[in-house]
Amino acid sequence: MSRHQPARESQAPPKPAQGPKPAQGPKPAQGPDPGQGGRPPVIELRGVARTYPGPPPVRALRPADLVIDAGDYVAVTGPSGSGKSTLLHLLGLLDTPTGGTYLLDGLDTGALPDRDRSALRGRRIGFVFQAFHLLAYRTAEENVQLAQLYNRTPRAQRHAAARDALERVGLGHRIDALPTTLSGGERQRVAIARALVNRPSLLLCDEPTGNLDSHSAGAVMELIDALHADGFTIVVISHDANVAARANRTVAIKDGQLSEPRPASAIAEAGHA
Ligand SMILES: Nc1ncnc2c1ncn2[C@@H]1O[C@H](COP(=O)(O)OP(=O)(O)OP(=O)(O)O)[C@@H](O)[C@H]1O
Ligand SMILES: [Mg+2]
Repeated sequence: MSRHQPARESQAPPKPAQGPKPAQGPKPAQGPDPGQGGRPPVIELRGVARTYPGPPPVRALRPADLVIDAGDYVAVTGPSGSGKSTLLHLLGLLDTPTGGTYLLDGLDTGALPDRDRSALRGRRIGFVFQAFHLLAYRTAEENVQLAQLYNRTPRAQRHAAARDALERVGLGHRIDALPTTLSGGERQRVAIARALVNRPSLLLCDEPTGNLDSHSAGAVMELIDALHADGFTIVVISHDANVAARANRTVAIKDGQLSEPRPASAIAEAGHA
C-alpha cells in the first residue's frame, strides 16, 4: 500500500466548533483536537532535504518522502550523526528545509512567514526532549502553562487546562512542585504534560528516555503508549531498540537517507497473496 496521498493544500488553522462556544472550559487534555473529518496526513514530506552550508556542506537529510497519518506512532532510528535530530527539527518547524515541500496538516509550511510558523508550531506540535527543558524556578503548572502562550486558550482557562494535563500524566498532586524537587521521570512527565496541553496534532519526542533509569524510562514509555491510544500522533527518535519496538512503524535513517523497512506482517501477507 502506498503511503502517498494527493496533497490537500492550505487548510485553515484548527477551527473553533461550528456552533457557539460551549460554556465550560477547554476539553481536558485527553487527546488531540479531533479537527474535521477527512483530514489530510499530519505530516507529508515531498523530497524534503537539509544541507548544512559548511564548509564543507553536510547533506544531513537527503531528499525524503514521508507520510504520517493521524494516529500513527512512528519510531525513527539510526546511528549517531545519521540525521535524526535534523529530521525532528524540520518536522517541528524549528528549522527549514533546503529543498522539497513539507505539509503539516495539509498546510504548506514553506509558504508561511516566520510568525505564522511559530504560531503553527505552538498550536500543533508538542516537543519532548531528552533533557526535559523545564524552567527551574517555575512550578510544574507554570512550566506547563508556558506552552499555552501561543494558543487561544483564554487566560482564565489556562489553569484548568494545565492541571488537566498534569493529571493526565499522573502528577495532579504535584502541580505546585518545582522541578528540582521532582525525580527525573516526574520531570519528563511534566515536560509531556507541557507537550500535550494544547492538544497538538503531533508529539515529537527526541530520546525521551535518554536521561532516565530503566524504571522511569518504562513509566514514560507507558505514558507515551497511552497517549497514542488516546489518539495522539507520535514520532519518537531513539537509539533504544526497546523504545522503538513499541511504535507501530519504524523509519530508519542512515547517512541522511530515510528508509522504511516493510514490517514482517506485510512481508508475510505478501507471501500469502
Ligand atoms: N548546524 C549544523 N551545521 C553543520 N553540520 C551539522 C549541524 N547540525 C548537525 N550537523 C551534521 O549533520 C549530521 C546529522 O546530524 P544530527 O544531529 O541530525 O544527527 P543525529 O542522528 O541526531 O545524531 P545523534 O544520535 O548523535 O544525536 C551530522 O553529520 C552532524 O555533524
Ligand atoms: Mg540527535
